[in-house]
Amino acid sequence: MIVTIRHVEDITEKCADLGIPAERCLFLKNSVSLRDRNDASRDTAYQILGKALAETLLASHHIVPTPCQLRDTRLTGQEMENDYVRMGTLELLCRRLADVPGAAAELGVYRGQFARCLNRLLPDRTLYLFDSFQGFDNAAGAGEAIQAAHEKTSVEQVMAGMPYPEKIVLKPGFFPDSLGGLEETFCFVSLDVDFEPATLAGLRYF
Ligand SMILES: C[S@@+](CC[C@H](N)C(=O)[O-])C[C@H]1O[C@@H](n2cnc3c(N)ncnc32)[C@H](O)[C@@H]1O
Repeated sequence: MIVTIRHVEDITEKCADLGIPAERCLFLKNSVSLRDRNDASRDTAYQILGKALAETLLASHHIVPTPCQLRDTRLTGQEMENDYVRMGTLELLCRRLADVPGAAAELGVYRGQFARCLNRLLPDRTLYLFDSFQGFDNAAGAGEAIQAAHEKTSVEQVMAGMPYPEKIVLKPGFFPDSLGGLEETFCFVSLDVDFEPATLAGLRYF
């Protein structure tokens, strides 16, 4: 079984090359869950996948109903649906941390979507949030469009809707300079800064 939320077309093509039938794949794309053949989302399936592939998938019924119905979760339906595979994995990892001491951290926060999930799943942990809150440093080599997109954030935006804001420690600035001599033990770290130098610095520090 293959579960995928992104790059549906590429993965489908690769699976076909490998002899894996589309019936063995489960797709969730752009927050859309494909349902059974009577569901209105059939039209969306056609749009996303094209007629032939959509018919194969819808005929086989190897498609989940609504992702957030699949299990008990502390995450909201919207958080789960935004990126089911990533959030499901995060939740499983967080459950395994019960006996592991330490704080949590995210390096690369953007608007705090993932950080909010971390905060919700680890309510008793201090959560350090490292971000420049102004995109990438000059050395990263981010193109103009990526840079412009990542500038559209702020500390206020990140903190809005944090379920346990008292557990958040903001570390603004470019990593690793933003560490400022921090000494801490971590049980979980998410590295999501897109480019190698900051990712490598994160791997070295954490
Ligand atoms: C892909 S986004 C993070 C997305 C976020 N983890 C999420 O899932 O919603 C990458 C973030 O890394 C930040 N960033 C990139 N290089 C950085 C650095 N050297 N220090 C601090 N933040 C950095 C950018 O400002 C941007 O907000």
